[in-house]
Amino acid sequence: MKNRIRRVLSLALAVFLIFALTACNSNNAGTPESQTPPTSPDSSNPDSPPQPPDASSMKVGISMPTKSLQRWNQDGENMQKAFVAAGFEVDLQYGGENEVPVQISQIENMISGGCNVLVIAAIEGDSLTEVLARAKEKDIAVIAYDRLIMGTDAVSYYATFDNWQVGVFQGEYIKDQLNLDSAAGPFNIEFFTGDPGDNNINFFFDGAMSVLQPYLDSGKLVCPSGQTEKLTVATISWSAENAQTRMENIISSNNYGPNGTPLHAVMCSNDSTAQGASNALVNAGYTAENFPIVTGQDCDIVSMKNMLQGFQSMSVFKDTRTLANQVVAMVTAILSGSQPPINDTTTYDNGTGVIPSFLCEPVVGTLQNYKELLIDSGYYTQDQLES
Ligand code: BGC
Repeated sequence: MKNRIRRVLSLALAVFLIFALTACNSNNAGTPESQTPPTSPDSSNPDSPPQPPDASSMKVGISMPTKSLQRWNQDGENMQKAFVAAGFEVDLQYGGENEVPVQISQIENMISGGCNVLVIAAIEGDSLTEVLARAKEKDIAVIAYDRLIMGTDAVSYYATFDNWQVGVFQGEYIKDQLNLDSAAGPFNIEFFTGDPGDNNINFFFDGAMSVLQPYLDSGKLVCPSGQTEKLTVATISWSAENAQTRMENIISSNNYGPNGTPLHAVMCSNDSTAQGASNALVNAGYTAENFPIVTGQDCDIVSMKNMLQGFQSMSVFKDTRTLANQVVAMVTAILSGSQPPINDTTTYDNGTGVIPSFLCEPVVGTLQNYKELLIDSGYYTQDQLES
């Protein structure tokens, strides 16, 4: 009995903290035009906090795409920690090596195993229609995590980062470093984005191109391989190996190299593709002194080490702790029967309508600010990046 009271009290405290946190985050996340005021826990009576659910009887199913990329391990662990701290039971699963059938059967088990809410980072955005129809029949709320789930009306909310802004950061970094507005040029550039089944690439790639396309049009930027279309530059499973193979082919067919055709920039949508491209560039003889600009996203440990060695120029930090806390706030609100925190109701249409979203803020990570961003904030220890 005592335990139960303690659990209810700690959940009430968690709810309070989460809503306080949400109010802070809502003030600066999302694009200005997409912002809506932070939602009060109970809009009919702002003074009455939502009734916390009895978390000890609630189970959250968390379905992550793979363990093979650092970020999803972190996302899974952060969410598990945050949900358990709030008193929930958690069923956390990873979809093998990005295997869609594995993810589907894990979600099926979560539904039959009594999960009250599902939090899903889809391997392939449009492959979950059938399984999520079953979740809907059972009134199980579904939150799309980081990646929008497409073509199903079973998705209640979407929690992610401002994905368009991620791409814009990458494009702007290249524009600023090459000084595209005043330098004579022309400059050579190649492009890499992620898995074609991940809706995020539409935001990452198009966001970057919104900055770079005018310079391609004017001839200030040139793409010697001619590969500038999103699906041509896509990387199956966001795999570093696939990106490396494609970069090797591009290097040899365009005679790139320190003594060959100059290559000034490689726009990569994330760190795993950046790692693949960088490996190929190192193998082709590039050194820290003549390395092309390479962009990324996630501030993965491997990429931060590359950055310290001069083999990647920037990344985009998406603090997965913030996203995890945001999702706990969403789930707590849903199960309390109140309105979850959202700050975007216009951007993310999954084919069945716009999904109300919460967008966290990404931040550019470079050698100049990585200590403050990653070490001082406790995300990594210096040792992790140096060893
Ligand atoms: C995520 C990125 C990640 C990529 C590969 C995307 O959906 O937003 O952070 O690097 O998937 O896992």
